[in-house]
This record gives sequence, structure tokens and C-alpha cells, in this order.
Amino acid sequence: MRYFPIFLDLDDRHVLIVGGGEKALQKLRLLTKTTARLTVVAEEVEDGLADLQVQRPFTILRRDFNESDLDAAALVFAASDDPELDRRVAAAARAKGIPVNVVDGPADSNFIMPAIVDRDPVVVAIGTEGTAPILAREIKAKLESWLPAHFGRVAQSAGAIRQKIGEAITDPVLRRRTWETLLQGLWRQFVLNGDPSGADRELTRQLDAARNEATPVGSVALIGCGPGEPDLITLKAQQHLQSADVLVVDRLVNPAIMEYARRDAIRIYVGKEREGDAALQDEINRTLVREALKGHRVARLKGGDAFVFGRAAEEMSAVRAAGIPVTVVPGITAAHACAASVGLPVTLRTKVRQFTVITGASAEGPVEVDWSSLVAPGQAFAIYMGVRTAEHFRERLLAAGAQPDTPIVIVENGTLSNERVVSTRLSLLARAIADKGIVGPAIIFVGLDWASAGLTPPERVELYEPAAQGAAPQSMISQTHSTA
Ligand SMILES: C[S@@+](CC[C@H](N)C(=O)[O-])C[C@H]1O[C@@H](n2cnc3c(N)ncnc32)[C@H](O)[C@@H]1O
Repeated sequence: MRYFPIFLDLDDRHVLIVGGGEKALQKLRLLTKTTARLTVVAEEVEDGLADLQVQRPFTILRRDFNESDLDAAALVFAASDDPELDRRVAAAARAKGIPVNVVDGPADSNFIMPAIVDRDPVVVAIGTEGTAPILAREIKAKLESWLPAHFGRVAQSAGAIRQKIGEAITDPVLRRRTWETLLQGLWRQFVLNGDPSGADRELTRQLDAARNEATPVGSVALIGCGPGEPDLITLKAQQHLQSADVLVVDRLVNPAIMEYARRDAIRIYVGKEREGDAALQDEINRTLVREALKGHRVARLKGGDAFVFGRAAEEMSAVRAAGIPVTVVPGITAAHACAASVGLPVTLRTKVRQFTVITGASAEGPVEVDWSSLVAPGQAFAIYMGVRTAEHFRERLLAAGAQPDTPIVIVENGTLSNERVVSTRLSLLARAIADKGIVGPAIIFVGLDWASAGLTPPERVELYEPAAQGAAPQSMISQTHSTA
């Protein structure tokens, strides 16, 4: 290791930047985050640099550099666009024993700047000793997405409660366990969400548990994992997965998503084949409570979004009734993901003003809804869990006055490698599902098509239109929906 990484205390120290152009500006953007005294020396100064001075005052000397500028400097940046001047600055600084960095001139520098991930006061510095800055940038990009935006708040808040915890819990083992629970669990989430009263409540709960030498109380996060494609989970979901002790996993969650979880996390699979299996839902509720009461951080992984046909309310009530805190992490729901995957907008200015999501199945059997409102002009909707009840939908919608050629798009296994898209019309809905062998999971879009949006369907769309049945699906709304 030729370059030794250190963090330098620049509070109230003099830092000199020679140059007033883009290079100097780039350094200043970082340096203005510090509490150093900054001086820029340059005959000409860019507007952006002067703008920066408004946000965070520093000195600008509009003249040529002279050696006396180095007096009292703790650090020097030679950042002019004149290589000769930069070399002169570097030589003078080195002669006085002042660390100097020449931008784009490692040979004249005696320190180099790392790539930085800034979550003040947590700062990650990444260096490659100048060999491959692109690698440093790649690591930085990964860390930027991995570390929550407000991660620094967690460190600041931890600093603020350190003394309180030290006084409340004297046993070092218990203290360490409590810190782990706070920093990886719900307390941290409250802090990240900017909810100080939630964080205080959670701190009190954990301190009480520690005083009674009880197991720290666990928590449950209901996490929407999106439609299946692993990249379609949120950063927040990923962060929860990384800290969870127990994963309670739904049938439709892609196993690839488990790669984001800790290897030692306990995995409990609780797939429901059919909607409305009450006994199984009770068992899931009991599992969540049981695992959280052991002190575990439980991640309840659900397909799509937990609040869309996800029975989240039942799980939240059961968990809350047991005195366990619960948070919800939104996910991309199947209808939106499937629509995006096949390039099908779900609303259209002037044509589709209302987009509804409907479940095709319920505990009581096929659903009954206000059919006439669904076939009114300007409506479109997505049916979830509708593969088995497609014939019921077809009959009810036609009876309510929907046009037989209302466009239908069926997306099966949306966003996954085995995704299929079938396009047909309402009168053929159930036949298309049977003949094309659609078994689900699938979203059935009613009243949406590409033509109405001025788009052409992707090539992979399978058109289901048996010859005897007449014209292909028309563009929607004016032609397809009842105007009665
Ligand atoms: C119990 S619901 C759960 C919905 C989920 N909470 C959401 O927001 O997407 C299950 C239904 O979602 C739909 N679904 C889930 N993932 C899907 C996918 N990848 N492609 C198509 N439909 C999907 C299917 O209609 C499936 O029967």
C-alpha cells in the first residue's frame, strides 16, 4: 500500500485552491462541505464558483498565485488549467512540507483524492492508488445505492443516545445486543424515515426489555417485492432483507430475490395456492408473531405491493395485537409492472381517465362488483387472480353492456423470463385463456390496447383471434365501450 488512507481534521484549517475553472470548482464542491477556511487564488473565476460562495462563504483572491499564499496552508490543491502554474504551486508546497494535490497530475502530488460516498458523518473513501479510477467509481455507485440516503442520521442519532444506553445497560453483552437490535432494526428505520418520536418509543421499548433482561422485542416489516424480476425491488426492501433474521416468504416471490438476504437468515415458505385460505392465513399470522416475539427482525416478503390484494391488513392487525411494531415497504404491483413490461400505458389523456384494479377471486368465489361502472366510457381495469374466473367476467361485462370487441391484454409471468402476452377481445377472453394454456399468475387488462395510445404492440405479443370470430380488436373506448 503506497497511499495510506487517513481522515484529516480540517476544522478551521487553511486550504488553498489555485485555479478558478471547472477543476477548481469540482474540488470546491467537496471542500465546501468541510469546516475548513478556504481560499481560492485565480485571475479569472467561473460563475459557478462564485455561486458556490453564496451558499458557503470562502475567500476568492482574483490575482496571480504567489508563494506567500501558501503561508499557514494545511493543504493545497493545484487546480488551474495551466500545467506550468500547477507544477510551480506543487513544487513550492512540497518545499514547505505542505501536502499538495495536483488535479490530474498524480506525479506532482503527494496525496490523491479518493472517490467518496458521503453520508455525513459516515464517509466512505475508495481508492485504487490511481490505477483504475473507473473501478472506484463502480464501487462508489454500488455503495451509493446500498447505503440509505439518510444513513448519516443513524450515526448521528446513535451518537446522541450513546450515553443514555451506557448508563441504562451496564452488562456489556446485553449492551452490545441492544445496540445490534437498535442499529439493524426498527429504531434505525424510524431514524431513516425522519420519525424521532417513533425512534424514541422504540428506544424505550428496547431499554425496558434490556432492563428486564428480556429478549429484545423483534419487529415485522411487510415488504412488497415487486412482480418477480429481482431488479424491480426497492432499495428499501433490499436494506430490510439484508438485516432480517427471519424471512416469511410468499409463493409468488422470486427465489432470486433471496440473494439480497443474509445467508444465515431463517426462511419460512408460506405459499397460498388459492385466495381465501383462512386456515393458512391464520397460520401465517401466528408465524409472524411467534418469530418476532423471539426477538427476530422478521421480513414478510410478498409479491408486488403488500397493500394490493396482499392481505396485509390481517397480518398488520395480528402483529400489532401482539404488541409488535410493524412497518410497510411498498413494492411495484403486478398490474403496473406487467403494463410497463409490455409497453402498455394504463391511462391515456382524453381516452382512459380511470384505471381500476379488481380481484377476480375472493374467499366467497367469483367477485360481484358494480359492472355498469366498469363498462362506462373512459374506464380501463386490471383483473388480478382472474384466470380461473375469466368466463364469469366475460359474461357479466357483456351483460352490463360492454362491447364484445373491447380489447383484452393478458400478461402471464410478467417481467420474468417466461413472460407471455396474449392480445384478444372480450368475447374471446375465456377461450383465449384456455386455448393459449394461460395458467397464471396473470394480469388481465380490459379496455387497454396499444393502438389507442398510438403505439404498436411488441412483436412477441400473441394475437388470439380465431378466423371465424370476425375483426381483430379495435382501438378502445369510443368503439368498444357501451355509451349507453
Ligand atoms: C394474491 S395477488 C397478489 C398481488 C400482489 N400483492 C401485487 O401487488 O401484485 C396474486 C396475483 O397477482 C398477479 N401477479 C402477481 N405477480 C404477477 C406476475 N409476475 N405477472 C402477472 N401477474 C402477477 C396475478 O394476478 C396473481 O394471481
